[in-house]
Amino acid sequence: MSFPQSRLRRLRKSENLRRLTAEVNLSADDLLYPIFVKEGLKKKKSIPSLPGQHYYALGDLCELVEKCEELKIPGLLVFGIPEKKDEIGSEAFHEEGVVQSAVREIKKSSGLAVFTDVCLCHYTLHGHCGVLGERGVDNDKTLELLSRVALSHARAGADFVAPSSMMDGQVAAIRRALDENGFKDVGIMSYSSKFSSSLYGPFRDAAHSAPKATLPHLSDRRTYQMDFRSKVQAMREIELDIEEGADIVMIKPALPYLDIISSARKKFNVPIAAYQVSGEYVMIKLLSESGAAKEKDVFFETLTSIKRSGADFIITYAALDVARWLRD
Ligand code: PBG
Ligand code: ZN
Repeated sequence: MSFPQSRLRRLRKSENLRRLTAEVNLSADDLLYPIFVKEGLKKKKSIPSLPGQHYYALGDLCELVEKCEELKIPGLLVFGIPEKKDEIGSEAFHEEGVVQSAVREIKKSSGLAVFTDVCLCHYTLHGHCGVLGERGVDNDKTLELLSRVALSHARAGADFVAPSSMMDGQVAAIRRALDENGFKDVGIMSYSSKFSSSLYGPFRDAAHSAPKATLPHLSDRRTYQMDFRSKVQAMREIELDIEEGADIVMIKPALPYLDIISSARKKFNVPIAAYQVSGEYVMIKLLSESGAAKEKDVFFETLTSIKRSGADFIITYAALDVARWLRD
């Protein structure tokens, strides 16, 4: 053995030494909590496909907001489940729609940062993220509708709108609409690099937003969401969104895409959000239910990895639990 021998174990000898030498610590500051608000619901109801998560009624939001504030969670990402759907998803830009009402309700009682998902898939009968034309999802017609959705959220008081439909030019279109209507202070968190992933299943069950296969090329979202075999396109998507005016860029899902997060962190000077999606969440829930691992440990490990790879904050269904574990 050569001298001096590297003895890295000296750094791990005690919990206090490990704490001193740790580089990344998860905190409640890193968590954005995604919630589902359901129109017409009287009282919150659990979501079968997302164990531990609820559909919230408008009347439950006040209590939820208090809980988030007590746990020091900085903000919410709001998804709406409408009572009615149509071909173009017009409930998504209704001034009295479920998201718009939820935002007003949350803003009434708190200073939480409110982010809203801007997309059409939960609002269209066909379940696509845009309007259908002759040749599939029509990009530019969808941009007009997304701008209306974003504007209605801004009017309701959203701090940030989060376009998630992966249409080309969605950030530019929304930025222009916001600016022209006096909402220069409303930010855009773009779902920049959103992969066509099999990990969205539980969310689509929860939001009733799975694409209906009317034609073979419409059976999934692969003509607009990213192909997971490409990193070049992922970086280009992020770059374009920043040029178009995104204030925050998001990468989604998180754990299988840490390489994208890490490269984006080195390349771009904007905050990066990572979305630990429904399938990632349920995988952890099922693993811990099986008794093979402790839920808390798996969430801390995965969320810390996501942060270590370069994400500034993480959107996770486990936000409330994690914040509670961090506090106690
Ligand atoms: C679609 C959308 C998706 C999610 C949120 N908004 C994915 C999809 O249906 O393609 C997934 C979130 C999750 O799985 O937690 N605009
Ligand atoms: Zn969508």
